[in-house]
Amino acid sequence: MTTRPATTFSPLPYTLVLLALYGLAEAVDVSNKVGLAWGGSPDQVSQFLQTGRVSWYYHWSETPDIDQNIDFAPMLWGERDVEGWQETIGDTLDTTNVSTLLGMNEPNLPAQSNLTAQEAADLWKQHIQPYKARGLRLASPVPTNAPSGPIWLQDFLNACGSECTVDVIALHYYGTNASALIDYVNHVHDMFQRPIWLTEFACQSFVDENDVASAEEISLFMNTTVSFLESTDWVERYSWFGAMTKLHGMNPLNALMNEDGHINTLGLQYIGAGSFVVPSTDDDAGNNTTGTALGQNGGATPTFVPDPNATGVSGDSWPSIGGGATSLAVPSWLWILIAAFGFAL
Ligand SMILES: *[C@@H]1O[C@H](CO)[C@@H](O)[C@H](O)[C@H]1NC(C)=O
Ligand SMILES: *[C@@H]1O[C@H](CO)[C@@H](O)[C@H](O)[C@H]1NC(C)=O
Ligand SMILES: *[C@@H]1O[C@H](CO)[C@@H](O)[C@H](O)[C@H]1NC(C)=O
Ligand SMILES: *[C@@H]1O[C@H](CO)[C@@H](O)[C@H](O)[C@H]1NC(C)=O
Ligand SMILES: *[C@@H]1O[C@H](CO)[C@@H](O)[C@H](O)[C@H]1NC(C)=O
Ligand SMILES: *[C@@H]1O[C@H](CO)[C@@H](O)[C@H](O)[C@H]1NC(C)=O
Ligand SMILES: *[C@@H]1O[C@H](CO)[C@@H](O)[C@H](O)[C@H]1NC(C)=O
Repeated sequence: MTTRPATTFSPLPYTLVLLALYGLAEAVDVSNKVGLAWGGSPDQVSQFLQTGRVSWYYHWSETPDIDQNIDFAPMLWGERDVEGWQETIGDTLDTTNVSTLLGMNEPNLPAQSNLTAQEAADLWKQHIQPYKARGLRLASPVPTNAPSGPIWLQDFLNACGSECTVDVIALHYYGTNASALIDYVNHVHDMFQRPIWLTEFACQSFVDENDVASAEEISLFMNTTVSFLESTDWVERYSWFGAMTKLHGMNPLNALMNEDGHINTLGLQYIGAGSFVVPSTDDDAGNNTTGTALGQNGGATPTFVPDPNATGVSGDSWPSIGGGATSLAVPSWLWILIAAFGFAL
């Protein structure tokens, strides 16, 4: 960031800034960046589509599992999924709306796809690069925000040389400091100068087990980070972790659904079915909307105001979920996630 030197006041730059901000606000309204990092069942998805803001989803796999007209992003998770990828990706591309392919999941973690940059580049060239010829956009493997993450990405791009068309850099971010997320995403964008997809993020620390956010802190974190993601033109897409009933070891307040499968308040905030109101008095959380010391003011608590026009938002008229009990089966990727972070169920 650069700071303008103080000069005599001239209204023109400020007018331009206001016009630019107005333009951003307009762009935010029509944004279709919002996605689902999906771990629910197909009958639970329509409640997330009620505002028309969610435009895409992925679920760490190559095969679609939602029967909806939103864009599906197939992922080649890692070496273990190569066979399934080869068998089904052609059919998927023929029958499903797909604009982008996602690369390997958290290759810099031993308990995730556990790939060296060279191994990943080889997989990517063999199984992802060929689909460039079909006009698809191709995303990088997605590292964690550990210090090794951006280094791994640089090594990957070096290992690819000129043989990979990496259109998009995909990232994950876990932490409880919204400013730090923004700094990280800016830093990685500065490094690679390509569009960014943030395909997992949540208000969750994996380095300090005592750093557990409250519902209000998570809501403010979401508001601050999503405001940034929406207003930053090189951020193409993002998906909060996660759209699922249980987060298995993560702070459960980050889930976008209740355990019964209904979209919850955080989920409604995420899909724009209401707005989260940050108190506006001086000595309240409004001072810290881009920092972390949220909710430590002892003052007013932020409140969620539902949009009365959004379906299913008014109290008891929740969308009904077919089939009674929701399956709580843990998908295999989640077990791997659990193993990665060393959590017990
Ligand atoms: C793709 O999306 C369009 C509109 O977004 C929809 O009309 C079409 O049915 C979708 N195709 C498939 C195969 O889902
Ligand atoms: C990760 O890969 C390395 C090198 O191939 C291997 O030695 C190690 O066992 C793998 N770790 C896990 C958890 O699979
Ligand atoms: C939050 O992140 C910002 C930006 O990286 C940093 O300046 C600040 O010190 C962090 N706050 C805390 C409480 O760690
Ligand atoms: C963040 O909260 C403010 C204040 O309630 C609201 O106007 C704004 O729309 C919210 N932004 C996002 C991206 O949720
Ligand atoms: C909050 O911000 C206002 C100005 O916007 C300032 O006067 C006040 O001192 C700040 N409070 C704290 C606790 O930083
Ligand atoms: C804002 O955050 C800073 C630390 O980041 C903290 O010292 C301060 O008390 C917070 N202000 C309010 C009003 O919560
Ligand atoms: C609800 O819809 C009506 C009619 O389209 C519109 O006039 C009103 O502004 C909407 N309210 C909100 C809160 O969006």
